Amino acid sequence: MSMTGKVAVVTGAGSGFGEAIARRLARDGCRVVVADIAGDAGARVAESIAADGGTAIAITTDVTRDADMQHLVEETVSRFDGLDIFVNNAGTTHRNGPMLDVDEATFDRVYAVNVKSIYLSARHAVPVFRSRGGGCFLTIASTAGVRPRPGLTWYNGSKGAAIVLTKSMAVELAPDRIRVNAINPVMGDTGLVDQFLGDNTREAIISGIPLGRLSRPEDIANAAAYLCSDEAGFVTGVCLEVDGGRCV
Ligand SMILES: NC(=O)c1ccc[n+]([C@@H]2O[C@H](COP(=O)([O-])OP(=O)(O)OC[C@H]3O[C@@H](n4cnc5c(N)ncnc54)[C@H](O)[C@@H]3O)[C@@H](O)[C@H]2O)c1
Repeated sequence: MSMTGKVAVVTGAGSGFGEAIARRLARDGCRVVVADIAGDAGARVAESIAADGGTAIAITTDVTRDADMQHLVEETVSRFDGLDIFVNNAGTTHRNGPMLDVDEATFDRVYAVNVKSIYLSARHAVPVFRSRGGGCFLTIASTAGVRPRPGLTWYNGSKGAAIVLTKSMAVELAPDRIRVNAINPVMGDTGLVDQFLGDNTREAIISGIPLGRLSRPEDIANAAAYLCSDEAGFVTGVCLEVDGGRCV
């Protein structure tokens, strides 16, 4: 998929799905901004993309902070002279367990990282997209927002919000030629997997996935590359399951 010269921000790109998305977009020709609260991890990914011949910089960003998101967008435009793609990937969860075991601070953190970040990205990226005649948002939501299961109730709700926001933003921003899509991954082997599993075994989760494995970062990156490309120019408001058939 050719995206030569486009400028893409990927949040939470210091590891997991976000890292794979950043690497893939860079391979497809994007100039990539690796935005992560973990500055060292973001720098490592950006350096490694550059070592592979791509163009990437790291900007340490807490996606729950308005000033950080403003700086992320302003710095991106200043360094790369534009912004075409904003991937809201950074996310967090509470540990899998009874819903009433989740304390208020944890609930607030999950909604700040998974939901408020989308609002902040819109506040700062939409004016830039409008000034350039279009743009593209992609959110990494989850099958948890489509087919919720016990143990992750508050996380499930945050991803449900991300899905509805994707659809609502898509219709509201369509006149500005801004596309808004989401990917719903099934559980994958990333930094969050132990929290998602809780006391469940990996085998129990896999038994509910018809294609018989967890998702891999490359699965999510492949779908992201399509949804962010011009080939998906007539695709908006889509929340695409990348889940081995889990949600059927
Ligand atoms: N792994 C799964 O099973 C799974 C399934 C469905 C959806 N998801 C979603 O995929 C996305 C990526 O998660 P992952 O699985 O790759 O986990 P991960 O822990 O490997 O990556 C998450 C990244 O987000 C960063 N991050 C956390 N809080 C941040 C903040 N406030 N500001 C900026 N960066 C922050 C972390 O430092 C980390 O690099 C999340 O939105 C997650 O909810 C994951």
